[in-house]
Amino acid sequence: MNDLFSGLDVAELHLANRIVVPPMATEQADAEGNPGPATAARYGSLAATGAALVVVEHSAVSPEGRSSLQQISLATDAHIAGHAAIAAAIHAAGALCAAQISHAGSNRGEGMPARCLAPSAVENPVSHLMPEEMSTGDIASVIRAFGAAAGRVREAGYDFVEVHCAHGYLLGEFLSPLTNHRTDVYGGTPAARRRLLLEVIEEVKGVIHGDLPLMVRLGVADNPPTFQLYPGGLTLDEGVEAARALDQAGVAIIDVSAAMCGSRPPGVSGEAYFRPFAEAVSAAVHTHVICTGGITRPQTAEDIIESGTADLVGVGRALAADHAWVHKAREALRH
Ligand SMILES: Cc1cc2nc3c(=O)[nH]c(=O)nc-3n(C[C@H](O)[C@H](O)[C@H](O)COP(=O)(O)O)c2cc1C
Repeated sequence: MNDLFSGLDVAELHLANRIVVPPMATEQADAEGNPGPATAARYGSLAATGAALVVVEHSAVSPEGRSSLQQISLATDAHIAGHAAIAAAIHAAGALCAAQISHAGSNRGEGMPARCLAPSAVENPVSHLMPEEMSTGDIASVIRAFGAAAGRVREAGYDFVEVHCAHGYLLGEFLSPLTNHRTDVYGGTPAARRRLLLEVIEEVKGVIHGDLPLMVRLGVADNPPTFQLYPGGLTLDEGVEAARALDQAGVAIIDVSAAMCGSRPPGVSGEAYFRPFAEAVSAAVHTHVICTGGITRPQTAEDIIESGTADLVGVGRALAADHAWVHKAREALRH
């Protein structure tokens, strides 16, 4: 039986244990969206905790895709150097690393300079901004931007590339019936709402040619497991269908989270609050699955792995607050 400290092979890579640091935005970019030395140092210290894999926070794939003015970027080749420093800091501390690439769509701060884009001209339920409906030309640009950003992830020296399709950002806005009212090939049915995500995955695969395994942060439902914050939103059944499609597309790791309600939904607490989501995805796919959200106790993490709920656990805030978390887990679980 696998436990929290069992190794895991993913494609050609070996993860030393099952603990992942999930992406946690530092919001420390300079005016051009470059991460600086403080950000690289922070990731080095997270990697030194003993977690096997550190997923670096969301980077914008284009100027329109930024969620805030402080967000780091991978929209141009000039951004590669700052990311290379982060990847090097993580590797020097002995962990593997992923970069998360994202387009915020209409879930972004107010007063951003670039166009506010979304599948439909519908008020964003989280940011309350009214976006422009994307043209097919806008959609083609976004697909190309994800591919180009993935190429920069490889250039920077990361081990994995993670496409962000959660937390109400653009790719998730396409999945959700709340924000996607399109009547063309990108809307109307669940399969049509998944289309952009799958086209982005194909583009990314075409650019990285199998050099890096692909991860997707997938918001599998607009609502938390136990109550409705966004009635009429993306259902878990549809989210699981999207996970199946990603599995068939060759995605190596599905990093399970929620969609419109975000990664830390108001009114949701307790250990491993998205465990039912991870369970549903694991039951439906062959690929590896990460369970994240409210995991604070080593025993919870161990149980998630031993029970087969997921192959990996994301421990974010607990590990950021206590860099000895992995060490203490090893002691507590007597590995
Ligand atoms: C400060 C902060 C920033 C975050 N930034 C991101 C991000 O850039 N991308 C992402 O997918 N999730 C982000 N998240 C969500 C985390 O990856 C994670 O899903 C969430 O914190 C729940 O896990 P935890 O209870 O172990 O912290 C962020 C969370 C926090 C607390």
